[in-house]
Amino acid sequence: MTAREWGRSGLARSLLAFALVAAGARDGAIAAEAAAPDDPALAAAVEAGQSLYLRNCRVCHGSKGTAGVPLAGNPKVRVDSGYLVNAILTGPGYMPDFAAALSDEDIAGIATFILNSWGNDYGPVTVDEVSGMR
Ligand code: HEC
Repeated sequence: MTAREWGRSGLARSLLAFALVAAGARDGAIAAEAAAPDDPALAAAVEAGQSLYLRNCRVCHGSKGTAGVPLAGNPKVRVDSGYLVNAILTGPGYMPDFAAALSDEDIAGIATFILNSWGNDYGPVTVDEVSGMR
């Protein structure tokens, strides 16, 4: 078989397709790790929320959301900003409540950070949403 014939064979085509898929998967993994949303306003909100998260939540939930009751990969948290905001405001179980300690802006920032980090891509949580839940 000449190189040309081989190039036209199904095997060469499937190897090429596999290489392209593998390259695409690798790019996706890098994008997910960097976790910087494309929208610059959202990226800034996530960054601001991260420092508030580290100050108020890390002690129990860990810097990556995997300590104690895990927040990262938590199906209740990742699909519903209301569930998360309500937990911050009311403090379920042994968790302290943050209704008095944090402003609506701070809580929206923390929720935006969590819901757009660790593989989550929910989008922004607004200050109005938090105010409406007080
Ligand atoms: C003093 C430790 C502590 C701190 C600080 C803390 N939490 Fe918690 N958190 C807990 C505990 C304990 C639970 C489990 C409560 C229960 O018994 O249901 C919990 C539960 C939660 C839940 C519900 C999880 C689920 O699966 O239902 C969310 C969401 C949450 N915390 C978010 C936060 C955020 C955001 C912050 C920071 C603003 C924070 N927590 C700060 C201890 C803490």
